[in-house]
Amino acid sequence: TILVVDYGGQYAHLIARRLRELGVLAVITPYTRVGDADLSKYSAIVLSGSHRSVLETDPDVLESARRILSNSGIPVLGVCFGHQLIAKTLGGVVEKGCGEYGRVVVKLVERDELFNGWEGEEYVWMSHGDCVSKPPPGSRVLAVSENGVTAALKIELKGRVVYTVQFHPEVSHTVKGLALLDNFARLAGVERKWVRNTYYALVEAELEKYRGVEGPVIAAVSGGVDSTVAAAVARKVLGDRVIPVLVDHGLFREGEVEEVVEKLSATGLKPLVLDERERFLSRLEGVVDCEERRRIIGEEFAKVFDQVMEAEGARLFVQGTTYPDIVESGGTVVADRIKSHHNVAGLPSWFREKYLVAEPLKHLYKDEVREVARMLGVPGYFVERHPFPGPGLAVRVIGVFTREKLEVCRRASAIVEQVLRRHGLLDKVWQAFAVVGDDKWVGVKGDARRVGYVVIVRIVESSDAMTADYFKPPYSVLDEVSREITRSIEDVTMVAYAVTTKPPSTIEPC
Ligand code: XMP
Repeated sequence: TILVVDYGGQYAHLIARRLRELGVLAVITPYTRVGDADLSKYSAIVLSGSHRSVLETDPDVLESARRILSNSGIPVLGVCFGHQLIAKTLGGVVEKGCGEYGRVVVKLVERDELFNGWEGEEYVWMSHGDCVSKPPPGSRVLAVSENGVTAALKIELKGRVVYTVQFHPEVSHTVKGLALLDNFARLAGVERKWVRNTYYALVEAELEKYRGVEGPVIAAVSGGVDSTVAAAVARKVLGDRVIPVLVDHGLFREGEVEEVVEKLSATGLKPLVLDERERFLSRLEGVVDCEERRRIIGEEFAKVFDQVMEAEGARLFVQGTTYPDIVESGGTVVADRIKSHHNVAGLPSWFREKYLVAEPLKHLYKDEVREVARMLGVPGYFVERHPFPGPGLAVRVIGVFTREKLEVCRRASAIVEQVLRRHGLLDKVWQAFAVVGDDKWVGVKGDARRVGYVVIVRIVESSDAMTADYFKPPYSVLDEVSREITRSIEDVTMVAYAVTTKPPSTIEPC
């Protein structure tokens, strides 16, 4: 196992996922927990990037690096922030004002097995404001960037090796990045045992733990791949006493509840549907802040499930929480999160104290869940669906939440999907939807002046939601979207298309 130390931002997850692609089990710990961790049980340690500066950091950060570098005899790789942190800890100098962003050429100045498979010069992806201006004593510079910045260091410490790289090997834009991580895993002698069968076994084992719990079991389902897989494995391990429950919060897409119920039923997971639309919508009405909406939805979910658990006499609750949710809810680097992503995963502590909660997918990333889904024969409908936020359309209404805007959003989103499907484009994009805010636009419908909503259409391409590009459909398709939305929704007088990438934007508006 490789330990990835998280210094904030999204970098640690991407590194862990890449290592897992290479067959290595990688787990994440926030830097604040390094002090308590038993480092000797890992085969290697990676220090992640961060959006912070090594020059303005808290003592815990420096302490974590000191502990990693002094206590353990295992290979270390520092990435970006990790590179600067290690250099600084070992007596090098880090300076401001030598940042590089985006695609940069690095030149290898010394051959090393870390760079097996690299040409003398390669494109890498940089994202840093500071740099190592003076490498630590005893280190060797392996690569420099076209701007003269130290791009890779090798430091031999008491018979073990520490590598650091200024660029991000984990992003796909670094052309030979995966090769570098592969080389690091090889020279660290890490076992490659993280394959489909291993992690499927782990999923089953998570549920086996609860075999002895008697009575009915409630499995929360939403139609997404995670909850479907969790419920399917629960059925397999715990049998027919598992009752899938779908809470209709009124924030699903048009026709979605009916469609999901039909598809789940065909899979043998016919859910109990609880119509709780009024409960959710009445609490959301008038709420402006999306984080507040997420909080309310999380709270109401817990209350509804509490009621159904009591009614059924169930002690065990199953949900499809995945690894990123677990790391984020337990970590202390959480303050850096851009959105709280409250969904069914964010169960309040009273619920966890009252019931047993099984989270069989808690070790897996989404792409791993998809593989398990295929192994279990879960239909493509669930495996290939677009991601949809737990709080549903509540995060697609900007400004004051009203039922009217919600309906405009729901209808417009359905049209966006219909038009893309008609042109065979829906499956080619990551997500496609409509957003409504408070802005109004004067229109002419018939002969009359009419003030209506502005609907923003967002269609993005992405491979993991960490970064995204806006999709470039033919103008004729946008034209169709605009015409159909304004024709079929009385209250809309303008359709706009969102053309900003993530970053600097995000995928959902709030
Ligand atoms: P952003 O908007 O942060 O979204 O670029 C990244 C991905 O996460 C989804 N998303 C959510 N999923 N609960 C969820 O379960 C949420 O509150 C939430 N907010 C955003 C979003 O759809 C995209 O795929």
